[in-house]
This record gives sequence, C-alpha cells and structure tokens, in this order.
Amino acid sequence: MNVLLIGGGGREHALAWALSASPLLDTLYCAPGNAGIADVAQCVDLKVDDHEAVVTFCKDKAIDLVVVGPEVPLVAGLTDTLTAAGIKCFGPSAAAAQLEGSKGFTKDLCRAIGIPTAAYARFDSADDAKAYAAQQPVPIVVKADGLAAGKGVIIAQTQAEALSAIDSLFTGNASGAEVVIEEFLTGEEASFFALVDGEHVLALATAQDHKRVGEGDQGPNTGGMGAYSPAPVMTDELITRTMDEIIKPTVAEMARRGTPFKGVLFAGLMITDEGPKLIEYNVRFGDPEAQVLMPRLTSDLLPALIASADGVLDRFDLRWHDTVALTVVLAANGYPGTPEKGSEIKGIDAASAIDGVTVFHAGTARDDTGRILANGGRVLNVTAVGKTVREAHDRAYEAVSCIDWPGGFCRSDIGWRALARETSDTEA
Ligand code: AMP
Ligand code: GLY
Repeated sequence: MNVLLIGGGGREHALAWALSASPLLDTLYCAPGNAGIADVAQCVDLKVDDHEAVVTFCKDKAIDLVVVGPEVPLVAGLTDTLTAAGIKCFGPSAAAAQLEGSKGFTKDLCRAIGIPTAAYARFDSADDAKAYAAQQPVPIVVKADGLAAGKGVIIAQTQAEALSAIDSLFTGNASGAEVVIEEFLTGEEASFFALVDGEHVLALATAQDHKRVGEGDQGPNTGGMGAYSPAPVMTDELITRTMDEIIKPTVAEMARRGTPFKGVLFAGLMITDEGPKLIEYNVRFGDPEAQVLMPRLTSDLLPALIASADGVLDRFDLRWHDTVALTVVLAANGYPGTPEKGSEIKGIDAASAIDGVTVFHAGTARDDTGRILANGGRVLNVTAVGKTVREAHDRAYEAVSCIDWPGGFCRSDIGWRALARETSDTEA
C-alpha cells in the first residue's frame, strides 16, 4: 500500500516510524515531514491547505490511505474532499472535527447527553461575558471557542484577570468571536485515546502530558514539553468509566446526528473526586502523546487505521507492550514565544544508540552539508521505554545528555508525578 501522512511534527515522526514497520506498506510519503521523517518516508512539498492539490497528488502516486496528523486540515475538511474523490482517509469529517474545532459545540453536546464536564456558559459579546464572569467564583476558566494552538485557554485567578482575558479574546478576533466560560476543575489530568470508526470504539492507551514550559509545571502553556504512557492515575475502573460515561455516549450521539466520528478521539480528562470529567476533545493523536503511545504498540498500526476508515473496528484488537514510555521534548531557546531557528544540533546518533531510546524529530531540517538544524519551536522528542517509569526516565535523560545543542532546552522533571507514585507504591 502507498500511504500519505500529513504533518511534520514529532507526532508525525512517531506515526511514520510505526507505519514504516508495517509489512503492508509499499511507499510512505509525508507532507511536509522533517529531517527525521525523511529517514523513513519520502518527504514531499505539498500545499496541504489546497485540498484539490492533495487529491491530485494521491491520484498521481496511487495513494491507498491518507493519514492526517494535525487538527487544522481536519477542521478545514480535508477528509471530506478526499472521501468525495474516492480516496480513503484516516481522520474525521469537518462536521465531526467540530469536537475539537468548537469548544462551545462540545460543551453543548455534553450538556445535551449528560457527559460529565465543567459547568459553562457561551458568549458572543464581551459585555455579556464580563457580566457573567463577575458573578462567578474564581479561579475561572476563559476559553476561545475555536482552534488556538493551545493558546486559547486562560485560567483567571481573579475577577480582574477574567475580565481582561475576555477583552483579549474579543479584540483582534474576527466578528463572530465567541468565548466559553467554565467552572475551574481540580484533580489530576490525564489523556485518553480511542480509535473510532463512526460506530465502534477501540480504547488505545492513556498518557500524561506536561503543558507548562517550566520545571514544576510553572510558566506559560506550550504544546507539551514531555509525556509518558500509561498514566498511572487511570486505573482500570477509571478507564471503564471514561469509556461508558464519556467516549461511547459521544460516539453514539455523533452517529445519531448524522455526523459520525471516525479517527482518533483524544479526551483531555480531569480526574476529580467525583470521577473523570471531560476538559476537552481533540480529534487526532496528541503531540507529544503519540511519541509515547507508538513505542508501546506491538500490533501493526496501519490495518487499525484502515479499519477505522472502513467502519470495521469491531473485528479488531490491538496489543500493547506492558512497558512505560517517556518522552522529553527539546525546544529551541525562545519557545513558546519566538523560537530561534538555525542552530546546529549534534549527538542525535549517540542518543539513539542507547538501549530502548528513539529520538523523534519535530522542528528539524537538514542542510546541504548534512547538519541537523533547529527549524521550529519544539524540535526533538527523546523517547525511551523501560520496565518502570524510573527506568524509562533514566534512559531518556541519559540520551538527552548525549545531545549537544546550546540553542535548545528541556524540562528536567518530566515524569515527576509518576515517579513519585511509583516510589510510594514501592515503599508501601
Ligand atoms: P486545553 O487547551 O483546552 O487543553 O486547556 C489547556 C489546559 O487548561 C488544560 O490542560 C488544563 O490544564 C487547563 N484547563 C482547561 N479547562 C479547565 C477547567 N475547566 N478546569 C481546570 N483546568 C482547565
Ligand atoms: N499535547 C496536547 C495536544 O496534542 O493537544
């Protein structure tokens, strides 16, 4: 089979790495890819927002399956155009991608069918939003309705912060801007992933991300500075509750509305005293969560993605290694503000040579002389597997120490929650 993978981040390198191991694969193309993906796929310069150009490429190259990594092309309807042209595509339609594309859409769906989530209200006027926020206790959460690359959520600790957050989301936004104001939930966060084929759901695995840029979860939010899988907070009982109370009702409701969901449903959860509550949905694999899911997957990824597109997941099962995977993100200095581009990165081969370690590239490029240069915000994902969190953690940081890159930085405390839990379990 010939496969076209859309995207060029660490998530796509992890997906490309898993897909390239499939005995079913002939040629893997990736648009645009990066310097690491180029080792396992043919990177192509294709304008992904020109959907007709993607269709033409697929016809020219006899593509059997398109796998869409990021949310933007999904919300823009790339799957719809490909499907209409008779090209198989893994990922939801634009209508189903509203689960990520509009927070208000998802909150209304939760309310309509009783999915546990934070109490909320939606506003399309700053004055009404401010009047409402002024009546609510703090902290309170203010969110832009649409896609915002992780920058659309403000946790306001005071009323004044809430009011200025509302102003900032309305100004500079096109007319028709909308905000969601939410109750602040407390608990531990976890990410839950499921494959969906419109009707059937296959639970994948769990993970925990580290969204803040700084040690101890301080500083501004990022796309994610590191992750591990599984998330120890997600007991079997909580996984069952998440499937029964959140995922399955959502999938059934989307089908009932005539907009069935196909692809990966990624639930961001808060594990509260009352149980799992939905913070938000994403309609794709997480980044960096895919980088810790793929190394744990023993089964072939490719037929699973095809089964999702074909609606036959009920005949499918996936197997996972009983190991822990942990990834440390190396980002360019300046991230999550303006990252410095062009600095040289050395030592990736030495890092990859360590037992159990794989380095997934994100924002990298190779220059004419073969040097690897930083070419984005998040640049590398140093990933390790181990029997325990401690082992995966120590291998990953040993590999990080092999990387010679003065132009970048990483958090030194990825996995701290899981390490603390593992230590207290061992002592108990
Ligand atoms: P999102 O971009 O929607 O994933 O939100 C970013 C982060 O904001 C989440 O990972 C949570 O840490 C936090 N967050 C969002 N909504 C809430 C909420 N209702 N209560 C507490 N924290 C929240
Ligand atoms: N790591 C969070 C996300 O992919 O949205």
